[in-house]
Amino acid sequence: MDAIVMLKDDHKELERLFKKLSKDDLSVVPAICSTLTLHITVEEQVFFPEINKRADVEADDIAEVLQEHHLLKVLISEIRELQPDDIDYKAKAGVLSELARHHHEEEEEDLFPEVREQLGRKRLQEIGAKMEQFKADLAKG
Ligand SMILES: [Fe+2]
Ligand SMILES: [Fe+2]
Repeated sequence: MDAIVMLKDDHKELERLFKKLSKDDLSVVPAICSTLTLHITVEEQVFFPEINKRADVEADDIAEVLQEHHLLKVLISEIRELQPDDIDYKAKAGVLSELARHHHEEEEEDLFPEVREQLGRKRLQEIGAKMEQFKADLAKG
């Protein structure tokens, strides 16, 4: 499957969970943390290294995306330290979802169109296959 289509599907799945969170359903927080962590890992371990090989994809754009990942990961690790009845649990989960929404918007509006233009459909399908293999290997442990 096309790598960018796969990543956008993850964003959609996360958006579905963020909507539930915005209706005060805190039961989705662990799923948000695990889905987002897996998504970030696939981007950092497979997708970005592949597009980094192309010097014509803006290094600045990737550097900024990585800084946002860093903030998301800090929040996720802090949320995982807290009990759901802690007042900061809901607050941090809310900030996490706002940051992630902003981040996904930037990826979809700035980075992905540039990557699609530079790499083309065939290369994106090859990267997508690598991402699927990476996920399957992770699931096996
Ligand atoms: Fe990302
Ligand atoms: Fe993403």
